[in-house]
Amino acid sequence: MVEERGWASYGPVPVSPPSSDGALRPELADVGRLARRGLRAVVGAARAADRPRLSRILGEHLGPGATAFDVVEETWPSYDHVNVQAGLDAWLTDARRSWELVGVTNFQHAMFRLGDLFSGGEGRHDVMGLQPGNPATVNLACGPDGEVRPCQRCGIYLVREGDVRTTLLLRGASPEFGIEQVSVQIVSTDSQAGARAAAEIRAASVEHNVFRGQVLSFGQEVFGHGQTLLQFHRRPTLTAAQLILPPETLASLQRQVVEVASHKERLLAAGQHLKRGLLLYGPPGTGKTHTIRYLTSSLAGTTVLQLTGNAMHLIAEACSVARALQPAMLVIEDVDLIADDRGMHPGQHPLLFQLLNEMDGLADDADVVFVLTTNRADLLEPALAARPGRVDQAVALGLPDADARRALFELYRGTLPVDTSGLDDVIARTEGVTASFLKELLRRAALLAASRTPGAEALAVSAGDLAVALDELLDTRNAMTRTLLGSAAADV
Ligand SMILES: Nc1ncnc2c1ncn2[C@@H]1O[C@H](COP(=O)(O)OP(=O)(O)O)[C@@H](O)[C@H]1O
Ligand SMILES: [Mg+2]
Repeated sequence: MVEERGWASYGPVPVSPPSSDGALRPELADVGRLARRGLRAVVGAARAADRPRLSRILGEHLGPGATAFDVVEETWPSYDHVNVQAGLDAWLTDARRSWELVGVTNFQHAMFRLGDLFSGGEGRHDVMGLQPGNPATVNLACGPDGEVRPCQRCGIYLVREGDVRTTLLLRGASPEFGIEQVSVQIVSTDSQAGARAAAEIRAASVEHNVFRGQVLSFGQEVFGHGQTLLQFHRRPTLTAAQLILPPETLASLQRQVVEVASHKERLLAAGQHLKRGLLLYGPPGTGKTHTIRYLTSSLAGTTVLQLTGNAMHLIAEACSVARALQPAMLVIEDVDLIADDRGMHPGQHPLLFQLLNEMDGLADDADVVFVLTTNRADLLEPALAARPGRVDQAVALGLPDADARRALFELYRGTLPVDTSGLDDVIARTEGVTASFLKELLRRAALLAASRTPGAEALAVSAGDLAVALDELLDTRNAMTRTLLGSAAADV
């Protein structure tokens, strides 16, 4: 591994001014200047005829015999492009290295390898009409609020480190031309250095991974080439007061998910495993998703990965990202849907078994919590019973009792003035409804109050508004709405 200090500052072109901490800073600034000078030297010549060919640039950098050197290649899934760039930028920033960047024009349609560029082409042209030019970048998301990082789509880095000369080709995926992965190809004058650089860049792309500590969902491009997409989400902020659950339920969730993470050193020292699986089950609208939002909010700094319906087949990939970016929480909602994915024989659930196998395959000391949710625990039970030990705990989220309904009423009333003279009746009549039903009740009551009073007047919900809203929601003609909101009485 390279020295720690080299990682401290990174970016495509370091711009920090020389500072007082000795030799390091001026050198870093030199790297930036060199890179810029390198670019100008190569692409500054306006007339193509005056431009050096790629083969000549590479030949001059690596010296004679370049064609005989081995090419080392590392590949990553296409969504890792931004992390490869972050890792490579960090690697380049090491004070012992200087580098120049050469863009490649006309690369889009060309299938070529770094080795192909050494030989040159016919006459004035490089192979496949490739030419040195301005680097082509693509801005890739690196945070939830529109942060992006410019990434090379096809860039050649000419690197010097002492006497060693190394050339790297970074190429992003272009599935439309059959290039499914991001790759870094490396040729070095030192036979060991190429492989070492490859390993260091791989490690750096994990260390500087922009997904770490973020909330992400795995999905699939709907249009285009079906590439895996990782999307950033803003971390929700939810306090315990906004989640109405029986205290013992909340405490056990807290213990399994949050406390295991916070006591991890002591638990590991005592030989206890960190990897854990949690199943949240209960009727729709009882707060499974809401609970996950709360857990995500409490686990600041933990990487949260969510697998959505159309991305269930990416389980193995999601597990490997979770392992690399631990501490991590991997959320698989409505896991019964994957249990429904039947195999060749009755009772087989290939995706569910794959999930359980992946859970099993993760090392015990991995700080990864799997949170599965389902409305259909009955469907899952046989499969889970057949594979004990993957899910450590099942937490039932039930319909709220009278006290919980009162608390939910207060929560969703918020600052809205409500005449609560009829509240006891409301609580009695809402036996068997879900949390989301009560939320909707208050929304409707507020809406009734709004349409009853003139626009200028501040909103105030009367006992009558509340009663009418409840009548509407409980009306048998509204059975579908009640089903949607989740009410035990819906199918009467
Ligand atoms: N236990 C709860 N405490 C507070 N609000 C809740 C609770 N359960 C549900 N809600 C509210 O109802 C909405 C729907 O619940 P949700 O979590 O999506 O249910 P589920 O995932 O179990 O189907 C939530 O967004 C939240 O506003
Ligand atoms: Mg849900």
